[in-house]
Amino acid sequence: TSDHLRHVESMATMPSGAGNISHLNAIILGESLASEENDLVFPSDHFSRQAHVSSPQQYLEMYKRSIEDPAGFWSDIASTFFWKQKWGKPVYSENLDIRKGDIRIEWFKGGLTNICYNCLDTNVEAGLGDKIAFYWEGNDLGVDATLTYTQLLHNVCQLANYLKDVGVKKGDAVVVYLPMLMELPITMLACARIGAVHSVVFAGFSAESLAQRIVDCKPKVVITCNAVKRGSKVIHLKDIVDAALIKSSESGVSVDICLTYENQSAMKRESTKWLEGRDVCWQDVIPKYPTTCAVEWVDAEDPLFLLYTSGSTGKPKGVLHTTGGYMVYAATTFKYAFDYKSSDIYWCTADCGWITGHSYVTYGPLLNGATAVLYEGAPNYPDPGRCWDVVDKYKVTIFYTAPTLVRSLMRDSDEYVTRYSRKSLRVLGSVGEPINPSAWRWFFNVVGDSKCPISDTWWQTETGGFMITPLPGAWPQKPGSATFPFFGVQAVIVDEKGVEIEGECSGYLCVKSSWPGAFRTLYGDHERYETTYFKPFPGYYFSGDGCSRDKDGYHWLTGRVDDVINVSGHRIGTAEVESALVSHPQCAEAAVVGVEHEFGDEIPAGNWVGLSGCWVGEWLYKISKKNFHKIMTEGEQQLSLSLEISEYLCCYGPPSPSSSLSPPFIFSSSMTDSFAAMVSQVKGQGIYAFVTLVEGVPYSEELRKSLILAVRKQIGPFAAPDKIHWAPGLPKTRSGKIMRRILRKIASRQLDELGDTSTLAEPNVVDQLIALADV
Ligand code: WTA
Repeated sequence: TSDHLRHVESMATMPSGAGNISHLNAIILGESLASEENDLVFPSDHFSRQAHVSSPQQYLEMYKRSIEDPAGFWSDIASTFFWKQKWGKPVYSENLDIRKGDIRIEWFKGGLTNICYNCLDTNVEAGLGDKIAFYWEGNDLGVDATLTYTQLLHNVCQLANYLKDVGVKKGDAVVVYLPMLMELPITMLACARIGAVHSVVFAGFSAESLAQRIVDCKPKVVITCNAVKRGSKVIHLKDIVDAALIKSSESGVSVDICLTYENQSAMKRESTKWLEGRDVCWQDVIPKYPTTCAVEWVDAEDPLFLLYTSGSTGKPKGVLHTTGGYMVYAATTFKYAFDYKSSDIYWCTADCGWITGHSYVTYGPLLNGATAVLYEGAPNYPDPGRCWDVVDKYKVTIFYTAPTLVRSLMRDSDEYVTRYSRKSLRVLGSVGEPINPSAWRWFFNVVGDSKCPISDTWWQTETGGFMITPLPGAWPQKPGSATFPFFGVQAVIVDEKGVEIEGECSGYLCVKSSWPGAFRTLYGDHERYETTYFKPFPGYYFSGDGCSRDKDGYHWLTGRVDDVINVSGHRIGTAEVESALVSHPQCAEAAVVGVEHEFGDEIPAGNWVGLSGCWVGEWLYKISKKNFHKIMTEGEQQLSLSLEISEYLCCYGPPSPSSSLSPPFIFSSSMTDSFAAMVSQVKGQGIYAFVTLVEGVPYSEELRKSLILAVRKQIGPFAAPDKIHWAPGLPKTRSGKIMRRILRKIASRQLDELGDTSTLAEPNVVDQLIALADV
């Protein structure tokens, strides 16, 4: 058993007064956590008493069983789902040790089920047919809709029948490029119903990225919509899909059907371009299909979906999740981490284009028969109070979002929050990146009126569901800590040599044994799966994250330790950005690093920050407006620059291909530090690119813009570098390896911490780089 388990055990066996559970909490924790007192936030008695897990002891008992008897623990839970045929023996089998052969994870093999059936049919049969499954809130005020479980089932069946009719079979891939319309979860569920594998691509990705994903998984059908409104901007998604389909067919992958939903509030069908023979209008065909559709029973280990995510090298990885284990895990984590009850109204602000939208917008909530809010628009539109307006409108009880949103909203007046009642709220959640304590406190005190526990859930696309998370009624929280592992998760911290370290420590976060929601492979590349995740520390799944554990056993995530950058919760591989940059004819070489931003005092010098078009832009506008004018009027900035920037910042979401705006804008060196501070605090991490130009090409502002544009085009606006640092050469070892450690130090201007540069092939490269830092 893990160090953690021993630690919890020692805490739980301390003498205590029986009876009142919260009182017990206080005794146990009060003694062992005394020195941290100021940092502890206890759940109220009232909350703990009603919670699924009310005390450390109860967590411990369940956790202990889940580790000592995973088969028993998880099959008890799995038995509460519908299985056409029960799984065989063993309940699970695994090999996570690369030294012992191929990596393999299987749960509930031989069991036949269907996740769509478990999301919809079982709930309808249990009498929840008239319960609201989704409240849909449109981008514009006053535009909304609802779907009950029965209606959702009918819509799903119609689409499933259509897909079958056009020849989509079990195991076939369907690519989905949709915004947050009800049609997005409907599509996911329809695929699942017939055993097709959905691959949702976030609708902020460029045509190039979409094409790359289409080429990789070769779908028969692509499903999209003509356009979507985000804030005050219309984004023409169909144009992006059209461009992607041209590109993919150039690579030999042609798609037969492009099913396009007409999103009337954004764009009329007359203005949509239709390609005869390929494009089908959703509204023309889907409503004609029957509202019942037989379920395709699939093996627990049959694939459910692919979701591409950035890695530290090469092209995006197609993370593959299978059906049975994922289903059980997504549902169970949802229930416990949010302390979900049937009376809850749940809202997760994530887009279904990311894993959070898969597990905790679509599957987790529906598997629990929950009512969820689906929001189409930008969370600060038309003003920064929109989220709380939505919370009040639907009486949201559980609100799950990302630190980047919290940080951006806390820049505006609290009045945007306090003018709404928010009294329905009882649990808050955070995901995507570490939440800094000051954002945590604002979220807790201002948004949650100091009464809602925050579930800071650490997990990944690969893990399928929460891995380290508070159970809101069980433990006191420490702002900024994701607390303890979920049931069945043996989280360990290892040193560089892959040796587990115990007690208070910091190192690399790994997992020692499988859990039902784990991904099973990378699509079409099992070798890369093994190399990336299981070779770095043999015997363990390696998360790519750094983590420390304090003396009380709480876990503190410290961010990625590999070449993946986390910008506002979006994972971006440095290698992808580099390859986009070098595709530019005038770029000879590029090296990209992430720049960490300390929250609070230590913000790097102000002149490097550039805003690039990205979804982040929509937050930035609000944050900046206040301070922006101040900066602009105080400084000697020309008005034109200020207009340019504010206009750009007004643009919500990525500009459409036809947009006349051509971000990004690089702030000149007279830009004040405080603005840089605002920007960096929102993003958490920035993308910093060192670029070596082709011999003889001079540096220019124009070239800088066109390099950034290359990245926007190839990956998507959210991946645009914040800074291009001209580099006559890059620091390399004699064997030609780029010394990123040195580049990171230069990027964050920690010039006195460059370390030993004597092993460089050309040590004077470093001085040249430093000299060009502000050019
Ligand atoms: C980071 C998102 C700290 C982490 C679900 C991880 C977090 C990566 C947290 C996965 C959190 C996510 N605290 N860091 N609560 N949640 N991360 O695949 O670096 O998009 O490895 O999955 O986000 O990002 P992904």
